[in-house]
Amino acid sequence: MKNIAIVLAAGKGSRMEINIEKQFMHIGGKPLMFYCLDTFEKSDVIDEVILVTNKEHVDYVKKDVVEFFKFIKVSRVIAGGSERVYSVWEGLKAIRGREANVFIHDSARPFIREDALKRLSVTVESTKACVAAMPSKDTVKLSDENGYIKETPKRDKVWIIQTPQVFENKLIYKAFEHMLAAKTKEEIKQVTDDAMVLEMSSEHPIKLVESDYENIKVTTGEDVKIAETFLKKDTVFK
Ligand code: CTP
Ligand code: MG
Repeated sequence: MKNIAIVLAAGKGSRMEINIEKQFMHIGGKPLMFYCLDTFEKSDVIDEVILVTNKEHVDYVKKDVVEFFKFIKVSRVIAGGSERVYSVWEGLKAIRGREANVFIHDSARPFIREDALKRLSVTVESTKACVAAMPSKDTVKLSDENGYIKETPKRDKVWIIQTPQVFENKLIYKAFEHMLAAKTKEEIKQVTDDAMVLEMSSEHPIKLVESDYENIKVTTGEDVKIAETFLKKDTVFK
């Protein structure tokens, strides 16, 4: 089946505390969003990319990112929404009804690797739903509302969830449509990943697929330092 990536680059990057959206912030001399787009462009797995960015930056991204770096797999650059979940929905509407698997990916994760994309593409063929993830190295606690420990989940059952999150297109479209109609605006704001949308609206099992610990999300200043360290030792992006 055809594999279409929806690349999300419509956030504000408020936790980065800089004066531009973090997808445009330069690391290693290139905008943060360049890196996953470059990997998808060179990938044997990804056939097409829908790029979702801030409404006011659509023209800039078309010219100064897609045309400039010759990302020919990017078929459309579209405007996102006020929350990540609405940006994904814009991407899904753009490919509505197409026979495909959809790889929903945060442009803030520059280090997604081809071998992880391959594992995801093989797994989605049989499961229709899988997400990139890594076993937690740290013990995780659930707290109560007063900040006291309530519960300790068994560490070997705790996974840190990443993107891409990969689904059969019609399955995830229906789940989003159902969730957006059934939930309040406040409930929708609590949706932090795409697997949650499927979990909320169906019993469909979602497979965890090991990715890499390097597939970090660049969120705050210290992540920039880590990302720059990864780039220095990496020959792929040079
Ligand atoms: N994103 C998006 N549309 C939004 C919000 C987020 O496309 N309305 C994208 C971001 O561009 C990012 C990814 O979703 O690639 C993950 O979000 P996050 O790391 O939270 O980025 P921001 O929302 O931009 O950052 P912050 O939460 O610190 O403001
Ligand atoms: Mg955010």
